Order: sequence, then C-alpha cells, then structure tokens
Amino acid sequence: MSIAAAGGLLTRQQSARQLQAALRSAWSETMPAAKLQAVHGLWQQLDHAALPALAELPAPALGLQPGRPSQPQLVHPASVPRRRLGSVAGRVALLHAIAHIEFNAINLALDACLRFAGMPAAFYLDWLSVAADEARHFRLLQQRLQDLGAGYGDLPAHDGLWQMAIKTADDVLARMALVPRVLEARGLDVTPGMIDRLRAVGDDDSVAVLQVILEEEVRHVEIGTRWFRHCCARRGLEPDTTFIELLDRLHPDGIKPPINDAARRRAEFSASELHMLHARIARQATG
Ligand SMILES: [Fe+2]
Ligand SMILES: [Fe+2]
Repeated sequence: MSIAAAGGLLTRQQSARQLQAALRSAWSETMPAAKLQAVHGLWQQLDHAALPALAELPAPALGLQPGRPSQPQLVHPASVPRRRLGSVAGRVALLHAIAHIEFNAINLALDACLRFAGMPAAFYLDWLSVAADEARHFRLLQQRLQDLGAGYGDLPAHDGLWQMAIKTADDVLARMALVPRVLEARGLDVTPGMIDRLRAVGDDDSVAVLQVILEEEVRHVEIGTRWFRHCCARRGLEPDTTFIELLDRLHPDGIKPPINDAARRRAEFSASELHMLHARIARQATG
C-alpha cells in the first residue's frame, strides 16, 4: 500500500470517528432546537466515503436514554389529554402528541446508526436520512403548534414510546422488526383517519403537514423491512414467521385495527405477513 493510500485510509477512519462523535452528540442533545440543528448538520455535511469505515467502528458505549428536554412531562398513555378536534385545544393536543412521536423518531434513527455496528454502509445512510426526515417532521409540527399558540412541551406526553427501543437495544433484527415495522407502521395505519378528522374541522394546514408525514413514513417502514429481511437472511431465518414470533414475544398487546394494507404493501410488507396480522387481530378480537 502506498503512503498516499495509507493516508487516505487513515483519513476515512478519522472521518468515521468524527461522524460517530457527531451522531452521539446529536443523540445526547436535550434541547429540540439544538438537536434539529445537529441532525441538519450531520445530513448536510455527510461524508459518504466515511460510511464503510463507520460500519467497522465498534459501537460506542451508549446509555439507554437519549437526550430529551425536561418538558413535556412523561405520563402514562391513559393520562395524555385527548380532546375533540373542533377546538383549537383539541387540535393542539393531537399535534403535540404527534410532535412527541417525531421527537422520539429522531432519537430512534440516530440510535440505529450508533448502537448497531457491523451493518453495511447503506444501513447508516438510510437511518441518517430518516433522522433528517424526522427532524423536518418535528419542525413542521412545531411550526403548526406555534401557529395555534402552543409549543412542544406544553402538554404531558406518552411515556411508553422509548420502551420498544430499550426492549430491542441488544438486537438489530428485533429493532428493525419492532420499531419501523410496528411503531412507524402504526403511523401509516392511523394517520389517514387523523387527516379525515382534521379535514372535517377545516384545519387544512395541519392536514398538509400530516400528508407529508404519511407519505414519507412509507419509506421509513420500507427501510425497516429491507434491513429486517437482511438480518433474517444473515441468520438463515424465514422473515414472515420471524416477524410474527417477535410480535408475540415483544409486543404481546398486539396490533390494533385499522391496518393500512395499501401503505404497508408499499412498505414491502408481504401478502402473507398482512394475512397473519389480520388473523392475529381477529384472534385478539374473539379473545
Ligand atoms: Fe416522522
Ligand atoms: Fe419515521
């Protein structure tokens, strides 16, 4: 190897270490504005050539709780306020709940990049691109909340969202199955109904925001599908039955209707997975 080539290799490793440090600092950042800026910087200044070397770095020592602001106060899901969408307070409550999901989604995408070493370079590029999308989704919702005289942190929020990240922190296969293909896929299922309800009360600005989010979340779920199948193939596992087994083990409360078959198919759910999901829902309904 020439000195120049050795120098180039060293530079890529240094660049990968810098990228990992920047990812970690974005993950740890507690203030929303600073986290958004950090993610924007990561995505805009991404050195693609550093990604293969990032994949080879050992995962950094990472706690289980990424940075989040002291507000919103986290409460049991049943204590999150729900109001009718005919009032501004009702729309603020809904948009605040979704903003909280998007804030968690930024941390989840960064967490995937940091926690799971040894994946192909494309894995890190995919999840960095998701972090950039989630930051934009959060910003759109924050703007919409401001338009309605509110802000992120004004209301209590669901304390359960990060639990799935903790349950799957030791296994990239489980993470890919349970976070994008359950939590983000849930967004595909319920967002069309929210859009209809917001349209019915004439809140077209919020409708426009949720339409952007719904469309872009299809890609996130598809990314989850692709990497879930990649992990299954590496371990010689059959993906459809593995997915259902993971649901049984890690998400025993089950998936509730509605299921957005069309969006999930676009996100590469197989016909047999959708069939099994519907059968599972029917079994839960009959006890
Ligand atoms: Fe999102
Ligand atoms: Fe997402």
